[in-house]
Parts: sequence; structure tokens; C-alpha cells
Amino acid sequence: MTAQILDGKETARLLREELSVEVEKWRAEGGPQPTLAAVLVGDDPASQVYVRNKERACGQVGMASRLIRRSDTTSTSELLDVLHELNEDSQVHGILVQLPLPKAIDTHRVLDAVAASKDVDAFCPENVGLLVQGRPRFLPCTPHGVVNLLARYRIELAGRHVVIVGRSEIVGKPLANMLVQRDIGFGPKYANATVTICHSQSADLASMTRQADVLVAAVGRPCLITVDMVKPGAVVVDVGINRVDEKLVGDVDFAAVREVASFITPVPGGVGPLTIAMLLRNNFTACELQQAVGDATIAN
Ligand code: GUN
Repeated sequence: MTAQILDGKETARLLREELSVEVEKWRAEGGPQPTLAAVLVGDDPASQVYVRNKERACGQVGMASRLIRRSDTTSTSELLDVLHELNEDSQVHGILVQLPLPKAIDTHRVLDAVAASKDVDAFCPENVGLLVQGRPRFLPCTPHGVVNLLARYRIELAGRHVVIVGRSEIVGKPLANMLVQRDIGFGPKYANATVTICHSQSADLASMTRQADVLVAAVGRPCLITVDMVKPGAVVVDVGINRVDEKLVGDVDFAAVREVASFITPVPGGVGPLTIAMLLRNNFTACELQQAVGDATIAN
């Protein structure tokens, strides 16, 4: 069997198209232009590219973006001041602090300082807590992208065993928290999974991954998932982005695994493009929520 490719690039294009229609309608009805503020600290080349892509994507769907740049010598407290200002600015609806931050900065303190209503990455404790309780304000971008992609290809999850390799705060943990819920907005068929999280201390990783109906690799290690670790017919989702000899590769040995899987995401062009599409979706949700609160305040 050669796996069908899950085309994230095309799915992301369709999602942006849908969103731009919604934004146009929102603005025609008098809504403010949804605006995303990106905070970039230092000059990490990969982070600069990510932020530039996010700004460009905002423009493609009729949103505005603002870039706030600080040098890598910025202190935690200076960054907290920046966030305080953005929190108070009613023309900014979503705030994104590009990670990783320089080592000297207290990342948790900075992320905790983003107003929960503007936390479009869904990183702050309030938004993580709401997700765990099954009443999310925002769905975290990359996990949301994964579910969107699976749902577009009608790959159902209910009752199936999803094995996630990687326990990061950005992908592994929030994805697990989403997939065990009864419904995360795509209907019960695209939730209700049995979920296992594996990590660097898991004993006999291959025996776990071979049990997966849906295998998600989110570690950041090229060729971590080899063909012997995949059950024939499994769906394989590769969230890894690794640079090897100037080429982007995922965590999965794509050429070999695609010969046994039923569906597989490529790198690049799989999950990656969806992360930004979901960020834009969250920014629109943030704008709608803030407008609703503003309207209620005026009515009172
Ligand atoms: N760095 C790598 N991935 C992400 C992400 O999803 N959000 C932010 N803010 N930074 C990142």
C-alpha cells in the first residue's frame, strides 16, 4: 500500500479562503479590522521567517498585523511592559510572543502576562485549563491544524488509538487533551480517541507506536519513526520540522513509511501550513469575543 498524502498546503489555502470571506463580511457589518501583534525578541533566523510568514498570512485574509521587535538583550521586565501595553490596546486583538525567547528571559512569566482574551497561541494557564476542562476559548494552533487536516480527509478518531510521540506544551500535551474530549468542534467522530503519549523516557517506544491507528510524531528528531515502528494501514502525522543539509525533513522516515501507511503528511507541506491558518482563525475569534464584551459593556 502506498499512503495517500494529506495535503496541508491546500487545506490551509482553503481555510484562509473561508476565513477571508468571514472577515470581509464582519468588516462590511461594521466590525473592526482584526489585528495581530507579534513580539519578536532577538534575531533568530527561523523565528524571523515564521513571524514574516504570519504577517503575510494576516494580509491574505484581510487582517492587520503589527511587529514589535526587541533586541536579545531585552530584560524580562521590559518585555512585560511591552505586553502590558498591548493588553491595554483595544486595537490589538491577538498577541503572539514568538518562541523560543532568549535564554535569559523567563518565558513562563512572559507568556503568563499575555491577556487570556488575546492569547491566540492558547499558551497561558487559563486557556490551557479551559482546554483541559473541555471548554476551550482558543484551540492551540498546531493541534487544531492536525485535527482540521484529519477531518478534511474524513479520518475519524472516535474509539481509535492515537499514539503521540512527544510531550511538548505546544503540540503533544494539548493535542492529547483535545483528542480525549467528547467533541472539540468537529463533531464526536473527530474526538473521543484513546490517547497514549510517549516521550524520551518511554520504554520500548516501537512497541507503543506499533499499536497506533493514528501515529503523531512531534519530537524534532529526523528519522525517529522508522517503518518497523508503524502498523500497516496506520495514519501517520508528522509534526517535526528539522533542517538537515539545508533541507526540511520531519520526524518520520517518509519514503519508507509511506509504503505501509494509509495516509501520511509530508514535510514540508503537511501540518506546518495549518499552524498559521489556525492562528488567524484564533485571531478572528479573539476579535469577535472582544467586540462582544465591548458591546455588552456599552449596553450596561
Ligand atoms: N515557535 C514555534 N512554534 C510556535 C508557535 O506555535 N507559537 C509561537 N508563539 N512560537 C512558536
